[in-house]
Amino acid sequence: MTVLGAADAAALTRARELALNARGRVSPNPLVGAVILRDGRLIAEGWHEGPGLAHAEIMALRAAGPQARGATLVCTLEPCSHVGRTPPCAPAVIEAGIARVVVGCLDPLERTRGRGIHLLREAGIDVAVASGEQARRSRELIDAFITHSARGRPHVMLKLATSLDGKVATRTGESQWITGPQARGLVHRLRADHDAVAVGIGTALADDPQLTARGIAGPVRQPARVVFDSFARLPVTSALARGARTIPVYLAVGANAPWDRVTELQNAGVEVVAFPTLRPDVPAVLAALAERGIQSVLVEGGAQLAGAFVAADTVDVVRWFLAPTLIGGDQAPGALGGDGVGNLAQAARLGDLTVTRVGDDVLCSGRLIDLPQIED
Ligand SMILES: NC(=O)c1ccc[n+]([C@@H]2O[C@H](COP(=O)([O-])OP(=O)(O)OC[C@H]3O[C@@H](n4cnc5c(N)ncnc54)[C@H](OP(=O)(O)O)[C@@H]3O)[C@@H](O)[C@H]2O)c1
Repeated sequence: MTVLGAADAAALTRARELALNARGRVSPNPLVGAVILRDGRLIAEGWHEGPGLAHAEIMALRAAGPQARGATLVCTLEPCSHVGRTPPCAPAVIEAGIARVVVGCLDPLERTRGRGIHLLREAGIDVAVASGEQARRSRELIDAFITHSARGRPHVMLKLATSLDGKVATRTGESQWITGPQARGLVHRLRADHDAVAVGIGTALADDPQLTARGIAGPVRQPARVVFDSFARLPVTSALARGARTIPVYLAVGANAPWDRVTELQNAGVEVVAFPTLRPDVPAVLAALAERGIQSVLVEGGAQLAGAFVAADTVDVVRWFLAPTLIGGDQAPGALGGDGVGNLAQAARLGDLTVTRVGDDVLCSGRLIDLPQIED
């Protein structure tokens, strides 16, 4: 592991920006970006656009052409050494005559970790692996991929919108819209960034949402929709069920879900996943989603489901929109249902906190669970 110099760090930052061009479209692959430097000058860029398409290093090598000989390749992730849907990158890097490689982070998959770097070094290429902040940011770029492979569950982002006094709806259940148009636009971007969006049946019944990503510039891969619904109460006439043949809907039901309801929803194209408990358990649902290749889930509430995710210690990161309004009232629901904690020392606390203004609203972002480490 190496503390990178300013030029390498700037190039790696650029490579991460490039990787984000394909956000929301690369799963089950990781986001990867790469640049090529020659005499300290950036001469080529590339990123991975999605499964079956060329990897970032190959795109950058193609853009550099013969200029790649003797140059430095800077990539956010260790070049792969194995044949997947596309040929391996490390041999292509060697063949192109690259003299030096800077890597943002090691391959998170244990079975292949370090093999790309080993091949490069064997071929006489000088390889530097980032440490510290640069390594952390490079891992963060692929947090969904890392969490899925290391923890066997999708990466979970909890998004909620509350009034300043922490209410998600009024006492009559009205919650659309607590935040302004800019915040709602950002939520569509968050949906597009995830493999799936999850809500509880309370929200599905109250709001009849589509949970699709709308109004986003550029190509969008729509997230699958997940509803926690113990008794299969989702109406076949709901927007979710009606769209199930176009964009997948997974309905997590409990052991006592009536089979006529289940069959009716299945006939409408909904994939019903049954769990042996009365209520589908959050970790069990996440494991079932991970098995279906879902690497990231955006949880959009409501209060009961959000509380269950926090109580199960399965929220990796939080995006909390605060509207400068006061709803008040004992009957208006707070943001997190369930039992909560008994004393302040047990309260979940956000790390890496950032606070930004989004239109008239405030967005608090932070992390509840550390990213898994990638051991050398
Ligand atoms: N401001 C916001 O950000 C925001 C976001 C979303 C919703 N909302 C508002 O919140 C309200 C709905 O919230 P809500 O708390 O009543 O409903 P919810 O959290 O959407 O759904 C809760 C229901 O999900 C089912 N469920 C199944 N498995 C569960 C599990 N493991 N843990 C928890 N629940 C599980 C339960 O019903 P069964 O056991 O019967 O299946 C439970 O009653 C609506 O008014 C909506 O508009 C606001």
